[in-house]
Amino acid sequence: MAASEHFTPLTSRMSGPLKGRAAAPGDKSVSHRALILGALAVGETAVSGLLEAEDVLNTAHAMRKLGAHVVHDGEGQWRIHGVGVGGFSQPKDVLDFGNSGTGVRLTMGAMATTPITAIFTGDASLKRRPMRRVLEPLGLFGAVAEAREGGLLPLTLFGARQPLPIEHRLQVASAQVKSALILAALNVPGRSTIIERAATRDHTERMLKAFGADIRVESVEGGATAISIMGEAELVPARIDVPSDPSSAAFPLVAALIVPGSEIVLENVMLNPRRIGLIETLREMGADIEIRNARDNGGDAVGDLAVRHSALKGVDVPATRAPTMIDEYPVLAVAASFAEGRTTMHGLEELRVKESDRLAAVAAGLKCNGVRVTETADGLIVEGAGADGVPGGGQVATHMDHRIAMSFLVMGLASRAAITVDDGSMIATSFPNFQTLMSALGATIETVQN
Ligand code: S3P
Repeated sequence: MAASEHFTPLTSRMSGPLKGRAAAPGDKSVSHRALILGALAVGETAVSGLLEAEDVLNTAHAMRKLGAHVVHDGEGQWRIHGVGVGGFSQPKDVLDFGNSGTGVRLTMGAMATTPITAIFTGDASLKRRPMRRVLEPLGLFGAVAEAREGGLLPLTLFGARQPLPIEHRLQVASAQVKSALILAALNVPGRSTIIERAATRDHTERMLKAFGADIRVESVEGGATAISIMGEAELVPARIDVPSDPSSAAFPLVAALIVPGSEIVLENVMLNPRRIGLIETLREMGADIEIRNARDNGGDAVGDLAVRHSALKGVDVPATRAPTMIDEYPVLAVAASFAEGRTTMHGLEELRVKESDRLAAVAAGLKCNGVRVTETADGLIVEGAGADGVPGGGQVATHMDHRIAMSFLVMGLASRAAITVDDGSMIATSFPNFQTLMSALGATIETVQN
């Protein structure tokens, strides 16, 4: 993509050690779900620690357009007066989800069994991402979609007038698809069952229990999980305290591991077992990550992560771990670049349909910074530079992908030459205070002056 005046190039360079304590912003997955379930409950849901980033704010706007009363009381503090399951009203305007696959797919599910029509769109990145994966199973409930060729946004979704319960086996390992179907099932007479083979993040299931839904999760043959939901649900409001997002904490975490002399603490990080694949992998690589003050937060594990600079070694990351660290592969590839030896990652075809084609974007970013990497159909093989160090000096194309931007800014903190990313503006979709938080820990990340 050609550079434009809207691009905000950022550069990062080797700094002294990172020191201090920080709290990454609220979890994005939980924040989207708190707004959507709050909008579907009857009464007032109170949320603290909500992630106030573009992706989540777009979901808040969409809930308002669908009829919910969403109030912002102060930093991270929100109240949602829901309309009840089946209570969404026909939006008078297009629902624009910007960069967010989660926002658009979950909202499509939440309205698909209510007899209203809505038009969905997003930015250039979201308009390239596949929507058939949700539209086809939503069709089983009776919803009808008219999408752009290839099942792409913008699209119009006609909610089912007389929705029917479904039993459906997920075709992709995707929490977004699973959640869209669970949300759709809430307004259907009778019990629907969704079966998933790979255990993807389960925030929708957990949160629905807190909102009083009749939802059962059980293991079935072949290691699969069946989630069954009783429809025509009456959701009661809940109080949600959103912990820090492990996928955002991943950036200062890896930065501390690769910048010599670093020692930081990341507070109140969500440690749901389906989100901690990166911590597990980094520990196998020799990372010094200590979980302190482990505690329960509304049914989910949270804790503080004490992280020290560590000598890392390459590992083979099992494909089965992918769902538990699906968003963390770009920053894992950065950690792997500093490790001694080879790191192999596979089973990652889903990374090609994220905010960018992350396998291609990471491979290109590593190469232009002097790291040897092989891109395979479904993974990456990274030859760690180890004691030789990472040369750096590259200009990285971010392709409208916040995680590509943050990953390579982290790399620049420990590479020999500074690294520039072509556009840091997308960081605001998930981690608006990234630069401030990293600077407070001692990192040097600056806007490039023309
Ligand atoms: C998310 C699920 C994941 C993840 C995304 C957030 C969610 O996507 O990549 O950032 O909140 O459900 P998929 O479920 O499509 O893999």
